[in-house]
Amino acid sequence: MHELRTLFEKYRKEHPIQGEPANLYTPANYILEIGGKRFRPILTMLAYQLYRKDWERVLPIAYALEIFHNFSLVHDDIMDAADVRRGFPTVHTKWDLNTGILSGDLMLIMAYEYIAQFEDSTKIPRLLKVFNRVAKGVCEGQQMDIDFENRGDVTIPEYIKMIELKTSVLLATCLEMGAIAAGASDEEVAHCYEVGRNIGIAFQIQDDLLDTFGTADKIGKKVGGDIVQNKKTILILRALEMAGAEERAWLLDLMCKPTSNEAEKIEAVKALLLQLKVPDFAQAKKNEFRATAFQHLDELQVPEEKKTSLRALMENLVTREY
Ligand code: IPE
Ligand code: IPE
Ligand code: MG
Ligand code: MG
Ligand code: MG
Repeated sequence: MHELRTLFEKYRKEHPIQGEPANLYTPANYILEIGGKRFRPILTMLAYQLYRKDWERVLPIAYALEIFHNFSLVHDDIMDAADVRRGFPTVHTKWDLNTGILSGDLMLIMAYEYIAQFEDSTKIPRLLKVFNRVAKGVCEGQQMDIDFENRGDVTIPEYIKMIELKTSVLLATCLEMGAIAAGASDEEVAHCYEVGRNIGIAFQIQDDLLDTFGTADKIGKKVGGDIVQNKKTILILRALEMAGAEERAWLLDLMCKPTSNEAEKIEAVKALLLQLKVPDFAQAKKNEFRATAFQHLDELQVPEEKKTSLRALMENLVTREY
């Protein structure tokens, strides 16, 4: 896994995002340079490696998926009014809003350019088809996430649907595209997708836990950002389910109107979440999806030793502290 990350980084550095005007290209390169765990390209490389040895061939696709992910982060930080990402100023904070929008657009286009570079051109139409599907899905999930900020009646199944779209389908498609590129059978491709879809839901639940209960130095983002933005995470939805009438009304009011005192709101909501044992519930939900992901991994018709790295990465995705 570590080796794959190093190889991916080598390829990425050999293909920097550069061009004129600098204010368009530099922010795109900046976001890719300031860090990131590179889970998505590694998933693509790992899926490809289940079926073929010549992993270098899948690098353009892996890079396309990481560029797409970074595009989604640049626009997500605008939508979430986030100032810090990977421990550094977000693009729209360091530059400005318009630069964030346009550099993000550029990255989306570059993702297509890299997919189109895949050597086996007979596979490109299918790769583009699944990529288009995921790109639309992420937009749908992001819109749901924003719509939920102003709603007080979001259900946990609606939340799961939203995180499936905004986050997990991309992880699923990373595995799917790796498997397609390697020429795996339709059945194998489908299991790869389900591995990613389920582990991706667990991954986003972990992200929501970390946003509230992590530490800023580890997560490289502002702690409590979701609470300030009135995000209807599983934490808030579970608290609304478990709270008594009075607390429920208080929380509902607090989580649907603009935040006045950020620090006070974060502390008060956190205290209620802990009192209602909400983190335990979120951990249990996360583990349900984790278990389903591993069931699909077991279904893959490849020797067990080939699954070792993917297994380890999946574990990392759901237990990570940053
Ligand atoms: C952040 O993803 C966005 C989510 C979908 C939760 P990562 O936690 O993978 O971000 P980086 O790329 O490692 O910074
Ligand atoms: C991000 O979800 C999903 C996408 C970028 C599409 P979040 O808004 O929870 O991600 P972070 O916490 O900012 O990384
Ligand atoms: Mg965000
Ligand atoms: Mg968001
Ligand atoms: Mg988050």
